[in-house]
Amino acid sequence: MCTVTCVAPVNIAVIKYWGKRDENLILPVNDSISATLDMDHLCAKTTVTASPDFKENRIWLNGKEESMQNSRLQNCLREIKKRAEVPNEMENWKIHIRSENNFPTAAGLASSAAGYACLATALAKLYKTEGDISGIARAGSGSACRSIYGGFVRWYSGNDPTGIDSIARPIAPATHWSEIRILILVVSDSKKKVSSAEGMKRTLETSKFLKYKVEKIIPDRINEMQKAILNKDFTTFAELTMRDSNEMHAACLAAYPPCVYMNDISHSIVDLVHKYNDAKGSVKAAYTFDAGSNATIFLKERDVSEFVGVLNNFLPMSENHLNGYLKGIPIKTALPSSDLLCKISLSKQEPGRLKYIICTKVGDGPKQLPDSEAFSMMD
Ligand code: DP6
Repeated sequence: MCTVTCVAPVNIAVIKYWGKRDENLILPVNDSISATLDMDHLCAKTTVTASPDFKENRIWLNGKEESMQNSRLQNCLREIKKRAEVPNEMENWKIHIRSENNFPTAAGLASSAAGYACLATALAKLYKTEGDISGIARAGSGSACRSIYGGFVRWYSGNDPTGIDSIARPIAPATHWSEIRILILVVSDSKKKVSSAEGMKRTLETSKFLKYKVEKIIPDRINEMQKAILNKDFTTFAELTMRDSNEMHAACLAAYPPCVYMNDISHSIVDLVHKYNDAKGSVKAAYTFDAGSNATIFLKERDVSEFVGVLNNFLPMSENHLNGYLKGIPIKTALPSSDLLCKISLSKQEPGRLKYIICTKVGDGPKQLPDSEAFSMMD
């Protein structure tokens, strides 16, 4: 029997991946850039066990057994088998996979990136595969390839039809820009969204604006973003992040029928960030939205207390949520000055429109854990 346990991080794109040039191989129409989030607050943990006694391959996700007949999972296994030198005695051994997130699925955060990055890392260790494994994670879910590295990461779309050059590469490690903090504002929303896979397909097929963005906007923007990260130029980083998110959602609205991910609270957060930046006289915070209503805010450590104070004023927490409303890195909220609140001048929302806030930072890539931390495979 052979067991490997790994953890892998979530990532948030600041230049979005939205559209595939090859649906089966999961090859994107443009390069994207993301920040990897600290695994102390958000991660997937996966144990893979191979044994001659197992009768079939099986998988449990967050405690529930799921089917292995899932094309993305099969793609991932096929990719690893292509590259791995499976030792002879392990050739016919079946595997059991158990994977869990350290954050509630109900948060509506994309967990597939961390999940597939973790699976690819664990399988690569199990079968002793060397070299870049971002292509293996990509076979499971596109954005997962960026979770293979820590810090700031670029996924190169590549040109080759086989996808060989569609891989992720680190731009800078987490330590490079350590004062950056990331707030995930979990918005209460029960509406079922169109999945990313379906939404990006529909947008690419029906929105001329997405084509324009991919061909005319992203080629320059991606290099400007990389430069802003390397120079720790927050103003440029923040502006490009917000523009890219706005344009992704504009393209989604230009799809036919439109894909609507942001709700009225998401839009109030956009408004609040712009008004906060205007009131401060410089760009202090940036928002970005994925295929859902939750907002991710990038800001510097020294601005977190005041920004959360401003949020609490205009988007107050529900009275039932006093405990556990602020998760992750502890925040001492500062009461913002009345002068600042006056300058922002927004109407207050009713309490409870935000479920909770997770404060985190940029973190490292996946790592292997000792066997003592493995999930048990008794089932
Ligand atoms: C909006 O990676 O979930 O989060 O490749 O079909 O699995 P598939 O899509 P997925 O899409 C993520 C889209 C996004 C933007 C991003 O992370 O770049």
